[in-house]
Amino acid sequence: MSILVIGSTGKTGVRVLRGLERLGVEATGVSRGTTPRFDWSDPDTWAGALTGAESVYLTYAPDLAASSAPAAIERFVTLATGAGVRRLVLLSGRGEHNAGVCEKIVLESTLDVTVVRASWFAQNFSEGALRDSVLDGAFALPAGDIAEPLIDADDIADVVVAALTQDGHTGKVYDVTGPRLLTFAEAAAEISAASGRQVAYVPVTLEEFHAALVEAAGPAYAEIVTALCAEVFDGRNASVTTGVREALGREPRDFADFCASAFGA
Ligand SMILES: NC(=O)c1ccc[n+]([C@@H]2O[C@H](COP(=O)([O-])OP(=O)(O)OC[C@H]3O[C@@H](n4cnc5c(N)ncnc54)[C@H](OP(=O)(O)O)[C@@H]3O)[C@@H](O)[C@H]2O)c1
Repeated sequence: MSILVIGSTGKTGVRVLRGLERLGVEATGVSRGTTPRFDWSDPDTWAGALTGAESVYLTYAPDLAASSAPAAIERFVTLATGAGVRRLVLLSGRGEHNAGVCEKIVLESTLDVTVVRASWFAQNFSEGALRDSVLDGAFALPAGDIAEPLIDADDIADVVVAALTQDGHTGKVYDVTGPRLLTFAEAAAEISAASGRQVAYVPVTLEEFHAALVEAAGPAYAEIVTALCAEVFDGRNASVTTGVREALGREPRDFADFCASAFGA
């Protein structure tokens, strides 16, 4: 069994590769910097990466919520099916319209599909776009006082590895969240307590967020992420689910445990 991990340097991709290695399963990780190279914006790179793959862990970049995602996913699934892929695990996002469209595309394919539909990652604070802000003592989001059930990427990876390597997960849509809801102010307080340094959450408007992101990451990325925030930061995801328990038979890791390992002394 050979497994292709797309986005292998990302927050879940590295963990999925590590989990497969621990099991002794043959896997190849790809992204824009690997050989073979895989670039979502260059479909000519897709076939080479698929050579010999029986299963695929699919993460879409920059985000499954991007308007470019459904057409790319449709094209990729057709190519993967023709290349002999049998099983596909899709990383999706909770409450996102385009992500839902992409889920439907893969679920209606002839592949054995599992969808792992995740809430906001705890690792966004420690490895993602907010990392530098957190280290500088304050992060800004257009999220007001809504609460999110922050999930640990280790749990997502465990669910993905199970779906890639065990029977019984085909056709399942695992809505995975952490075990409790936190506002971003509460998350900042827990990061502060674990790190011993004051970290503040600064609620900003969508316009302020967009302007700062254009400066930091350019207009195209700013557009996608601001639209995503406008869509999901309305409280629609303010509930916990049992997806991790359904997939793994255990509870998800608590945000306090994440803070201790990511920010603890
Ligand atoms: N972060 C969250 O809270 C969250 C929540 C729910 C769902 N998701 C989903 O998770 C997925 C990944 O998001 P993330 O924040 O976890 O990303 P991430 O950690 O930044 O990882 C992105 C990965 O994709 C690769 N990549 C970037 N651009 C690419 C391109 N054009 N073609 C191929 N590979 C590319 C990156 O490597 P290179 O830069 O080296 O190419 C990296 O390996 C998204 O589809 C998103 O919908 C995220």
